[in-house]
Amino acid sequence: VAIAASCSSPSTAEAVVAEGDAIRTGNDIQAVRGSILHFLRDPGEAASAPAYEFFEDGGLVVRDGKVVAVGPASTVLANISPRRIADYSGKLILPGFIDTHIHYPQTEMVGAFGEELLQWLNKYTFPTERQFANQNYAEAVSKVFLDELLRAGTTSALVFSTVHKQSVDALMGEAYKRNMRIISGKVLMDRNAPDYLLDTPETAYSDSKELIDRWHKKGRLLYAITPRFAPTSTPAQLRSAKRLVDECPDCYVHTHVSENKGEVAWVNELFKNDVREGTSYLGVYDAFGLMTRRAVFAHGVHLSDADFSLLKDRDSAVSFCPTSNMFLGSGLFPYDKAHGMGVKIGLGTDIGAGTSFSQLHTLNEAYKVVKLQGGKLSGLQGLYAATLGSAKALDLESKIGNFERGKEADFVVLDPASTPLVKFRMERAKTPQEKLFVLMTMGDDRSVKATYVAGKLAHDRDEANKAFADGANTK
Ligand code: GUN
Ligand code: ZN
Repeated sequence: VAIAASCSSPSTAEAVVAEGDAIRTGNDIQAVRGSILHFLRDPGEAASAPAYEFFEDGGLVVRDGKVVAVGPASTVLANISPRRIADYSGKLILPGFIDTHIHYPQTEMVGAFGEELLQWLNKYTFPTERQFANQNYAEAVSKVFLDELLRAGTTSALVFSTVHKQSVDALMGEAYKRNMRIISGKVLMDRNAPDYLLDTPETAYSDSKELIDRWHKKGRLLYAITPRFAPTSTPAQLRSAKRLVDECPDCYVHTHVSENKGEVAWVNELFKNDVREGTSYLGVYDAFGLMTRRAVFAHGVHLSDADFSLLKDRDSAVSFCPTSNMFLGSGLFPYDKAHGMGVKIGLGTDIGAGTSFSQLHTLNEAYKVVKLQGGKLSGLQGLYAATLGSAKALDLESKIGNFERGKEADFVVLDPASTPLVKFRMERAKTPQEKLFVLMTMGDDRSVKATYVAGKLAHDRDEANKAFADGANTK
């Protein structure tokens, strides 16, 4: 790994010290030290400039929740009091992971046995989501969910709530308290689901509108207009979604597409009188004007070349969810093809069809999905996908995804010796690239020593484990 030159000047570091006399302790650190890796562009693309910076003994300086400087510790930390530096020497600091597709209400139903998508929805998912009509229940699950994201090193996520307004209020309220970059919205569904989960084209509009007013751009939160998937929305409801997009063009559109072959056939049947003949499943969303540059389509396992071209033309993104696609037996996402065509691809866990909150674990499965189709996903490519690549998929690369000056200081501290076996294996890795790949193959939430949100410590593994053990002991 080439060690790139620091881009910070000593004067920036001095400015940090001059800022205040008070000695800051605890959560209010001003800098961290450790090995630092972040991406400047896609390492999978041919380019003359380096795709990443790696500082073996690096420093990251933070002020007011934003990155002030990153570079060699000897330069950027030179004028900072050791009392203001959290020292993670020997560990690897990366930008916080970004999850581009996850369902918070499904936290409690990971590992629901035996079904493919449509039966899985009816048998397990819809009854689970019914409970989120109760705001207290939704608040309790929101806390567990956000704790789990942080334990996995994930600081930003695009999240499905349920059809209930209060499910969004619960999640957004809790995320606001934690200052996390969470994007969510009320699910729109007015057909092909149990009555207890249905809204209408009118309430889809009015409830979403109210929630947009309440949450979009409040702190770091953003709103996603969220039709569940084409089969559960009537054409009238998709027109309501489009009206919301027109009235809030920087809101997201978040939905599912072409995940399962039975689902694809069903959409073709359901919409055959509503769209031009030959329109694909993705084309249905396009026909209703929902393919914006802030649209994220989960899965896309069965998309055609023409569909990928359409995604590229519209500058919409697809969320690759390998653990989910394997768990439900949906199929293999053609990652290399989509990537080669220049489609924006984010990485998603898709909890609860997905089986892990950890983007490291998700990358382990991503590697296998790519490999089964004859490709190879390197450690660098994988970690790019989980950070800057996913930031681009969310159209948020100007705010998160790497450590360029001015970006929001969300980061994760990874422990290369998280278990005896990982430590044993890492000691035998000969190059930094090999270490990254081992991290991506063997890593999980145990690898996450600490997670910082906007420069503040939001999770410390060892403290959390102690609290968990103490809690278990008092039961
Ligand atoms: N398609 C429509 N709803 C869902 C869902 O909740 N999970 C997954 N994986 N696919 C869906
Ligand atoms: Zn999903």
